[in-house]
Amino acid sequence: MAPNALITGWGMYAPSRILTNDDLSRMVDTSDEWIVSRTGIRERRVAADGETTTSLSVNAARDALAVAGLDPAELDLVIVATCSPDYPLPATSVTVATALGATRAAGFDLQAACSGFLYGLATGASFIGSGMYRNVLVIGVEILSRFLDWTDRNTCVLFGDGAGAVLLQASDQPGGLLGFDLFSDGTGYEGIIVPAGGTVEPASASTSAEGKHFIHMLGREVYKYATRQLAESAVAALRKSGLTVDDVDQFVFHQANLRIIEHVQRQLGIPEQKTYINIERYGNTSAASVPMALAEAVAAGRIQPGDNLLMVAFGAGYTAGAAVVEWTADPQRAFLAPGEQTRLGQPQQQLGEQAAPEPAAVG
Ligand code: UT7
Repeated sequence: MAPNALITGWGMYAPSRILTNDDLSRMVDTSDEWIVSRTGIRERRVAADGETTTSLSVNAARDALAVAGLDPAELDLVIVATCSPDYPLPATSVTVATALGATRAAGFDLQAACSGFLYGLATGASFIGSGMYRNVLVIGVEILSRFLDWTDRNTCVLFGDGAGAVLLQASDQPGGLLGFDLFSDGTGYEGIIVPAGGTVEPASASTSAEGKHFIHMLGREVYKYATRQLAESAVAALRKSGLTVDDVDQFVFHQANLRIIEHVQRQLGIPEQKTYINIERYGNTSAASVPMALAEAVAAGRIQPGDNLLMVAFGAGYTAGAAVVEWTADPQRAFLAPGEQTRLGQPQQQLGEQAAPEPAAVG
């Protein structure tokens, strides 16, 4: 029988620098009231100058490995889902693996925007199900603050930086990843786009002057598509797992907009207490949002062995992904990891107004 892919380790990392809505209201024409009522976001994290996509990934991954008690040298594969890599070339997964001491692991990056972590989970689980690998690290990570136009209120208030990681391990024990649904529709490719820096418009002085290396978004179109597709992807993944909405104990949605999450909750008849929300503290961290929320939900005691968990995300492309997991790990392991003090549950430092980046410095 094909081995099951169990989640045996989990971790997250959020940069300590906090940017509040009030900080933003001193940078662009916006207000705390507008941002909270339209999105649910109150603050977000911004990576410090020396932090990179690799360093955020490594912090989250070390926790995931410590929770599972796995030596990094035992890793077979490191998948990094991100749309804000260290470089266009080489892949961030390779520097992450080296920094972790994953000396015999293969590594590649995966780009499916905000859905990237779900694509990564499906990919990692397939490698395990095929028998090719036994220990796969899946990381969702972003430093979108470096791709934002800090003078564009349509985008700069929405996104944040962070990383989340899970370790998938092959096991004969039942449970783990039960079913997936992956979706893409390129007719919406302009909905969320960084127009320059690729083959269509290579980087040049004029693309830079026109701000084409920043994220541009058609918010309303994305909103409408997201509400419909998140529900469809969730239902499709449940169908493939032989479960219904009522069988799910905990939902972990991509944290893009609280109104989108509440809309999908109503559409599917999901009780509020079954959904983990942290958008108010991190904003939209794209590929990092689902694994960060998962790690926090476990630390908060929201997910217990035997529970069914549904994770679902939607993003640029458009793409969407959903996964159903029967949780098998002891959630207390996050606090018992030998040798390493996990960051989960530790209060983050509030840096207040000093944290507001100068537009020129971050843009
Ligand atoms: O993670 C990938 C998926 N991404 C998403 O799911 C994002 C989906 N979209 C959204 O979440 C929402 O569309 C937004 C939060 C981006 C915008 O909310 P909205 O309720 O759709 O607002 P809107 O775009 O319809 O804009 C309403 C007004 C506009 O003014 P006018 O044209 O009506 O005068 C905007 O210019 O709000 C204005 N506006 C702002 N006002 C204050 C836009 N951004 C801001 C802002 N502060 N930051």
